[in-house]
Amino acid sequence: MNSKTTQATAVAHPNIALVKYWGKCDVERNIPAVGSLSITLGGLTTTTTVRFDPELEHDVFVLGGRETPKKTERVVACLDRMRRHAGVSHYAVVESDNDFPTAAGLASSASGFAALVVAANAALGAGLEGSELADLACRASGSAPRSLFGGFVELELTPDGPHPTETRQLLEPLAWPLRVQIAVTDPGPKAVGSTEGMLMTELTSPYYPAWVESSAADLADARAAIDRRDFEALADISESSCLKMHAVMMSARPGLVYWNGATVECISRVRELRAKGVPVFFTIDAGPQVKAVCLPEASEGVGRALGDIPGVTSLLESGLGDGARVVGGGRCGKRDDSTSSTPMRENTAGCGASPAVAGSW
Ligand code: DP6
Repeated sequence: MNSKTTQATAVAHPNIALVKYWGKCDVERNIPAVGSLSITLGGLTTTTTVRFDPELEHDVFVLGGRETPKKTERVVACLDRMRRHAGVSHYAVVESDNDFPTAAGLASSASGFAALVVAANAALGAGLEGSELADLACRASGSAPRSLFGGFVELELTPDGPHPTETRQLLEPLAWPLRVQIAVTDPGPKAVGSTEGMLMTELTSPYYPAWVESSAADLADARAAIDRRDFEALADISESSCLKMHAVMMSARPGLVYWNGATVECISRVRELRAKGVPVFFTIDAGPQVKAVCLPEASEGVGRALGDIPGVTSLLESGLGDGARVVGGGRCGKRDDSTSSTPMRENTAGCGASPAVAGSW
C-alpha cells in the first residue's frame, strides 16, 4: 500500500420503515417528500471498506466480490460529494458485502450508503458529524440516514432549518427490544427500483397528494405509540402506512405491484395471529418480502407460522441493532474489533465517542 493510501471499514445495518418514505420533493438533491420512522435491524449487516489511493485512475465498486459497473454511478456521486468536503481528489476502491439478499426490498441501499459515508468519512479524515453526514447519506438514498442510527429512528423534514432533513434516534435498541421475522418470498432483485418507482408514482398516481398530506399525522401517531411502548397502536399505524404506500404505488400508471402470492398469504397469516392476540404486525417495502414485527416472546411462533407458508423460501430473524460505525482503519484512530465500535446516537456521528450498545441478534 502506498503511504498516501487511506482506508477504513464500516458496518451498517438495514432499517425497515414503520412509517414509510415514498416520493421526493426535490429529485436533484434527493430530498424526501415525507418524513419517515424506522427500526434498525441488528441481525443483517453490510460491511464496506473504502480505500482512497492516488495511483487509481477511476473509482471501483465491488459488491459481493464482483465489480458492478451498473451500480457504480451512485457510489461515485456519493464519493465525489465526500471528496469535495474533504478537499481530496484521489479515486477509491469500495468493497461492500451484505450477509442478506441485495436489492430485494431488504433495504440494502440504506445500509450500503450508511456504511459507505461512515467508512469514507473515516478514510478521508473528513470529520463530518451528525446532520452533515446524514445529509450526504440522504443525497445517496433517502432511507440511508436512518441506518446511521440504531434502535427507533425518525427522519424529519425540516425545510426551514439549516438542513433539509434531520435524523435522530427516538429509542435505543434495548429500550424496546422488538424482534422481526423476515419471510423471504423471492430473493431476486426487484423489477422496478425505489427511485424510479417513486418518480412514476408522483407523476401518475391520483392518490399521491393524499399520501403526502397524511404522512405527518402518521408520524405523530407512531412517535406517541413508541413513547408509550404501545404495541397495538404501533401495529395499527405501521400496517396502515404500509398498505397506504402500496395502494399509492399500485395506483401509478403502470401500477407497481411488488407483491407475489406468498406475500399476500403472509399478510393473512399475520392478521390471523394478531386477531388471536399474538403481538405481531406486518410491514412490506418495495419488494415481496414480509417483515413481521413482534414482541420477543412471540417471535419463535411467528417464525414457525410464516415458515409453513408455501412460497416462503427462507426466514431471517433479527433483533434491533446499532447505528453505522467504523470497525477498522480510518484517520480518526479506530480499532479493528467490533466490541469497541462507535454507533451513532442522537446527532453524534462517525468518529464520535458514544459507547457501543449491544445488538440483540
Ligand atoms: C419502500 O431510500 O431506496 O423502502 O432515496 O430513491 O434511494 P431512494 O429510495 P430508497 O426508498 C425506500 C423506500 C421504502 C420505504 C422506506 O424505507 O421508507
